[in-house]
Amino acid sequence: SGPATVSPTGRETGADQAAVAQGGAYLTTAQGARLPDTDHSLKAGERGPVLLQDHHLREKITHFDHERIPERVVHARGAAAHGVFQGYGTAAEITKAAFLAKGVETPVFVRFSTVLGSRGSADTVRDTRGFATKFYTSEGTFDLVGNNIPVFFIQDAIKFPDIIHAGKPHPDREIPQAQSAHDTFWDFVTLHTEATHHTLWNMSDRGIPRSFRMMEGFGVHTFRLVNAAGATTLVKFHWKPKLGVHSMVWEEAQITGGMDPDFHRRDLADAIEAGAHPQWELGVQTFPDNPEQTFEGIDLLDPTNIVPEELAPVQPVGLLTLNANPSNFFAETEQVAFHPGHLVPGIDITDDPLLSGRLFSYLDTQISRLGGPNFAQIPVNRTHAPVNDMLRDGMHQTAVHRGVAPYRPNTLDGGCPFQAGADMGAYVEVPREVPAAKKVREAPDSFADHFSQPRRFWLSMSPVERQHIIAAYSFELGKCYERAVKERGLRVLANIDPELCAGVATALGLPAPEPSQPLATVEPSPALSQIGRTWPLD
Ligand code: HEM
Repeated sequence: SGPATVSPTGRETGADQAAVAQGGAYLTTAQGARLPDTDHSLKAGERGPVLLQDHHLREKITHFDHERIPERVVHARGAAAHGVFQGYGTAAEITKAAFLAKGVETPVFVRFSTVLGSRGSADTVRDTRGFATKFYTSEGTFDLVGNNIPVFFIQDAIKFPDIIHAGKPHPDREIPQAQSAHDTFWDFVTLHTEATHHTLWNMSDRGIPRSFRMMEGFGVHTFRLVNAAGATTLVKFHWKPKLGVHSMVWEEAQITGGMDPDFHRRDLADAIEAGAHPQWELGVQTFPDNPEQTFEGIDLLDPTNIVPEELAPVQPVGLLTLNANPSNFFAETEQVAFHPGHLVPGIDITDDPLLSGRLFSYLDTQISRLGGPNFAQIPVNRTHAPVNDMLRDGMHQTAVHRGVAPYRPNTLDGGCPFQAGADMGAYVEVPREVPAAKKVREAPDSFADHFSQPRRFWLSMSPVERQHIIAAYSFELGKCYERAVKERGLRVLANIDPELCAGVATALGLPAPEPSQPLATVEPSPALSQIGRTWPLD
């Protein structure tokens, strides 16, 4: 026995409940008593004091007083849509996940977001964008909680509070809302040089997308897929937009942000309403599951690394179509709760230390954001698979559980049949050797190269993209008050490329430093440039 009422989709339930709550010919209290008037308080005389006994007044104001819930600690600003995912069947050899099988259609809910601004901030800022997808599969919910940038700032989740504290507005003045133009952000990313690659993507045109419909998405971490025979393959997930990848130029973003700070959420909702349903192909890069978990010398557990598509092409495995706008922003876009640990049979995690920390963080934050442990019962968060979870009671419990014995097996609830075992479609973690254990608080040596991949990105850019990157660093670093932070920023750039460093140094009126280490010898990856980028969809 799971929640007492389980609806096929959160969206329908949200709409149904809204209809029930707002239906009928009479205005009522929350208890259903009809109201004669909702505009005047009960008073002792026309000009006398308001009476405490006015239940309608107190109920109306009390409820209003508690309408807000905490915004997400990151990714607070978002817009979402419903859709459908159709598997191509092309992943059948590498995963048993049912929703990827040929022709299977799975309802999805996708939320796009900025990372650092508050709920009311502008869409058009320079920032990373979240791209989180909830697949309501027949085997349970699978969440792919990704970004529009394929790498992350840090390699270990223990630094997440630090990078976010550095990136959020200064604690004294609560400015700026935009991601990067301030001292603490640049202080952090120049002291923790593993952030160089992600920062470079932010300073490129990818930091100011034209539209959510024109962004790539990335699962970032390496995942482990398992097929029906138990064989494993390491993969990175990619979303490829049918409309291509497009950005604004900086000046466009400034004007658009001033004229319409809701530009991206309006663009998404208008397009869907007009029937221009945005589409993405889901693809995977595949790598042999070798004991080192490396590919062509690239550490696959380091989330600051990509694997160039020239070395491992992205292979399409299914099609996502967004076809319906939420009917209630709060019920759906605000209350949706994604979690990288929501996995289905055929998809497992790897030991990427950033992913491990995420597995703890999302559930933890949602218990406080959504008011207790029962948010899986909120319509948009309900799985479409049957639930029999033995979880009971707690804040905001809405299910009426039956029976007396919420444990299995038991002999009291009608002899409750209980089956266990790996062979009944259960989610079973892939058995893996754990390396000889020595407790350490260290990063592996393979996490130490912070500049080769940024250099590859820079070398892959077209001349106009390079100009934009130089202009972005010049503007953002130029906003810092501390000269030492600007100078350290230039020292980081010197380790990426002399042209980049010199361009920014000239704009800042500071000398261009020499690199502190030999520049890496890397091949460009033309797939990284947005110019002339095509995708097999069209
Ligand atoms: C929220 C992506 C790293 C903690 C989100 C969201 C996305 C995302 C897309 C918004 C979900 C939504 O729309 O509701 C990523 C990616 C990461 C990453 C791609 C790295 C590869 C981390 C780390 C932590 C973290 C390392 C903490 C250790 C959170 C929290 C939220 C969040 C607390 C708010 C969740 C909520 O309130 O529902 N992240 N994130 N993230 N992320 Fe991450």
